[in-house]
Amino acid sequence: MIYCAALSSHTDFTAWQDSARALCAARTAPEAISWRGPDDPVSLFEDMGLPLAQCPAPTREVKAPKAFIEMARRVICHRDPERFSRLYRILYRLQDNPALIKNQVDTDIIWLSECDKAIRRDRHKMHAFIRFRKIAESGAAREQFAAWFEPTHRIITLGAPFFMRRFAHMDWAIFTPDGSAYWDGLDLTYGAGANRDAVPSEDAVEEQWKTYFASIFNPARLKIGAMQAEMPKKYWKNLPEAALIPDLIAGAQRRSRAMHHSLGAPNPLARTLKAREGVTGPVTAPQTLPQLGEALQGCTRCPLYRDASQPVCGVGPARADLMIVGEQPGDAEDVAGKPFIGPAGQVLDAALGAAGIDRAHSYMTNAVKHFKYEVKGGKRVHRSPDNGDIDHCRWWLDTERKIVKPKVILALGNSALRGLTGKSLKVSAYRGQTLPARDGSVIIPTFHPAYLLRLPNRDDAQKASRDFHQDFKFAASSLQAAQVKAELQI
Ligand code: URA
Repeated sequence: MIYCAALSSHTDFTAWQDSARALCAARTAPEAISWRGPDDPVSLFEDMGLPLAQCPAPTREVKAPKAFIEMARRVICHRDPERFSRLYRILYRLQDNPALIKNQVDTDIIWLSECDKAIRRDRHKMHAFIRFRKIAESGAAREQFAAWFEPTHRIITLGAPFFMRRFAHMDWAIFTPDGSAYWDGLDLTYGAGANRDAVPSEDAVEEQWKTYFASIFNPARLKIGAMQAEMPKKYWKNLPEAALIPDLIAGAQRRSRAMHHSLGAPNPLARTLKAREGVTGPVTAPQTLPQLGEALQGCTRCPLYRDASQPVCGVGPARADLMIVGEQPGDAEDVAGKPFIGPAGQVLDAALGAAGIDRAHSYMTNAVKHFKYEVKGGKRVHRSPDNGDIDHCRWWLDTERKIVKPKVILALGNSALRGLTGKSLKVSAYRGQTLPARDGSVIIPTFHPAYLLRLPNRDDAQKASRDFHQDFKFAASSLQAAQVKAELQI
């Protein structure tokens, strides 16, 4: 007997999941199901199939590993016409063999991870290449923008939430041939596909993009092949700045020589870094904070850049005697592009105030520059960076240290300590001590402010908060001592 599972949407994961769960609970073999999408013609054979409502009663509970559900949620947006049936076959096989998901040589699992990779790549392109055009003057109300984009797959629902966080302050619509998304400051809603005429073609925002692109275009890193792989030609027609590319390439050699002189000789680390697998960030160390901020925007050293809104660079004066190093940006920092502006930042500010340290005179940064998180219940939930994440990012922290030249560095938490020392030292073992660094600075380990916020017991929280404030006062006096020592040496 053949069952016919007809779905009215190409990408509705819940609808597929409901049908798949009912069929799988009734132990319906994959070959006994004909999956049909909204555009698939009805064949005579399928017409003779039984509707899902006639599926027998469940005889087992259907289970699937979280990793499968997460991938299936994305892969449903792939254009492969077989995706409904292939996902079902994997679900069916997982019931007897939950370890299947880890079998990287299984044909179904290879298919699944290839599709997932293609979807994530497509989503990344959408995040990178959408250009909004203003469609209404704001007056007192919010400004309104629209963008046209042609993704390879049907990814509008996967790609749009990023823009909700990034451009929360403006109203916008994104149109693609398969679907559209609308944000009005409160709700993100989805609608039907559109054609290119939905979006006006010219406006002032384009000029801003062109200026921005011309300023970040780094001729010293020009690799035309790589650039076209990252920014494939098919996206160029919708990118105002793409019109500049031929001229920029033509002038690249001249600008590269000029840049070489202004930056000085290349970093001796460059060759080692290039040789290290997976390193695709810049290899010439920036010499100033603005150069560093600009170079960080293109960092793809580790996969964290794919899901974060943006890298978060440190903030503070170009030379600061005190550097404060946290773990990684949180949700608020990821959206704003600045470190320590959320709840942990408030705890930090209180300790700085109590110690008489002026935040504006300190340089504040993180061991890891991109927000690492997972989505739970529709929210982005912080995930701690692992040693690999911290080690990939150390190049940036080291560069910041070389530019800012701090005398005292407050390390907030274990990740910061790892970023600063390259070793897995625990704050619990080193609090109350100073760790001398090779560059002449001293590192003072203390708790991460978020740790204080997480302590459930009031007494523990009060004790930790007292210790935290004490460490900041110790940092303030170490700073004074270092400044006096520097003056005496002169
Ligand atoms: N936590 C951090 O470690 N850094 C931030 O910037 C914010 C929260």
